[in-house]
Amino acid sequence: MKLTITSCLSVGLALLWILAQPNRGQAAEGEQGKELFERRCSGCHSLDKDKEGPRLQGVYGRAAGSLPGFEYSDALKASHLNWDADTLDRWLTDPEQVVPGNDMAFRLVKADERAAIIAFLKAQRAVER
Ligand code: HEC
Repeated sequence: MKLTITSCLSVGLALLWILAQPNRGQAAEGEQGKELFERRCSGCHSLDKDKEGPRLQGVYGRAAGSLPGFEYSDALKASHLNWDADTLDRWLTDPEQVVPGNDMAFRLVKADERAAIIAFLKAQRAVER
């Protein structure tokens, strides 16, 4: 009897917990790249100002490590990468694997979030001046 009550309680609590989560699984899907960029990247990047990481306006299509005025790691400067959907996706998945010795201590494991952010960065290219 005791066991049953305990189990009911745990199930009830688990249900409550699940209900209290705002659609965890679906949240990323519906979110715009801009919001994800702000949430995941803006601690270190902005579009138009250098922070801990370089400004990312127009990064899509740009050569890696090529912005004047930002102190890149030697590794990134020597990488000869060009940022496109493929290189950005690999970079965000695991920078260390793409450019060993780089300075970006960050990984984005969710493929749908990477795709949304890359689409957002690509769109920023159009408004670059
Ligand atoms: C913990 C801080 C940090 C976070 C979070 C971070 N970055 Fe970075 N990022 C850096 C640093 C530092 C560099 C410079 C790396 C180097 O010089 O080796 C960099 C470099 C880059 C570059 C290369 C830029 C160039 O001019 O070649 C891209 C692209 C980039 N980050 C995209 C992103 C995106 C998109 C996100 C969010 C999903 C993100 N970063 C999150 C710190 C960060």
